[in-house]
Amino acid sequence: MIVLGIESSCDETAVAVVCSDRTILAQRIASQEAEHRPFGGVVPELAARAHVERLTPMVEAVLADAGLALEDVDAIAATAGPGLIGGVMVGLMTGKALAFAAGKPLVAVNHLEGHALSPRLVDAGLAFPYLLLLVSGGHCQLIAVDGVGAYRRLATTIDDAAGEAFDKVAKMLGLGFPGGPAVERAARAGNHHAVPLPRPLVGSGEPHFSFAGLKTAVLRAVQSGRHATDDVAASFQAAVTDCLADRTAIALGAMPEATALVVAGGVAANGAVRAALEVLAKAHGLPFVAPPLALCTDNAAMIAWAALERLALGPVDEPDAEARPRWPLDRQAESVRGAGVKA
Ligand code: KG4
Ligand code: ZN
Repeated sequence: MIVLGIESSCDETAVAVVCSDRTILAQRIASQEAEHRPFGGVVPELAARAHVERLTPMVEAVLADAGLALEDVDAIAATAGPGLIGGVMVGLMTGKALAFAAGKPLVAVNHLEGHALSPRLVDAGLAFPYLLLLVSGGHCQLIAVDGVGAYRRLATTIDDAAGEAFDKVAKMLGLGFPGGPAVERAARAGNHHAVPLPRPLVGSGEPHFSFAGLKTAVLRAVQSGRHATDDVAASFQAAVTDCLADRTAIALGAMPEATALVVAGGVAANGAVRAALEVLAKAHGLPFVAPPLALCTDNAAMIAWAALERLALGPVDEPDAEARPRWPLDRQAESVRGAGVKA
């Protein structure tokens, strides 16, 4: 089976063609970094416009790269949320139009499900259930992935997402946008013991996350003028890493049936975070699985793959799917006080 996937929920316009045998036949990702850089963050209106301009030519180009015609694909998959609603609408409507024109089923994919299942695209041996740490610019969650469509949220952030904290700290340090990779680069030259910073919620019994207090502490350190940028970056990265590892350890304790520890989302690109999680997995006798960097950040191959996972269980066609700014993976999960939009 071959699926064409579309992703447009944030600032990446992405299209991919993926086969059920786990081959990515073609994929393209157009980042909008240049458009958003002058504003120091993603501007939703600009993002939606950029998706409109890029998506159709990109679909044509990816099909050409794969040597396929639209008629050759078995289904069209598009992200239907959660995300910036303008961009989600552009991608979903494009997907619906393509599906209608070609007479193929449409699969409306939850972006978080894309991240959650992406490790199985590259690792055929990764079996359910596994513990997923999903850490991106919009999300910071620990999810028990029991099967396709069976997700239990064990933890979420009560304020900022980890990637959001990286982006804001980069801004404070004048390191530019996007923040995560810039902070990681600066941190390499810094001393992570130089600036004492808090580790919010570390040691607490429930595995939730919080980064607001850490962010404020970084701001004070920056304003004091007493620390080198590289040292602040390194100390901040070490604090986030400690929080992520500690919280994940609590969740692993609550999920003894887990067969693996999996990390996904943009922050999974961070070397220090990966290294700490690898140590943690080893200590629990579990394999550590992280998708290759290109599949960690937003991409369309994960959207096509999530659709293929669902199609493998039976026919799916959702031509009337709505674009959803919010769409929790675990509908049973209670909202956490102060969790804002990160539900
Ligand atoms: O998953 P993603 O591409 O988009 C969503 O938010 O859904 O994640 C982007 C986030 C941004 O906040 C970015 O700063 C962060 O991931 N990020 C990193 C690194 N690369 C990307 N954070 C820390 N270290 C990195 N190397
Ligand atoms: Zn994402």
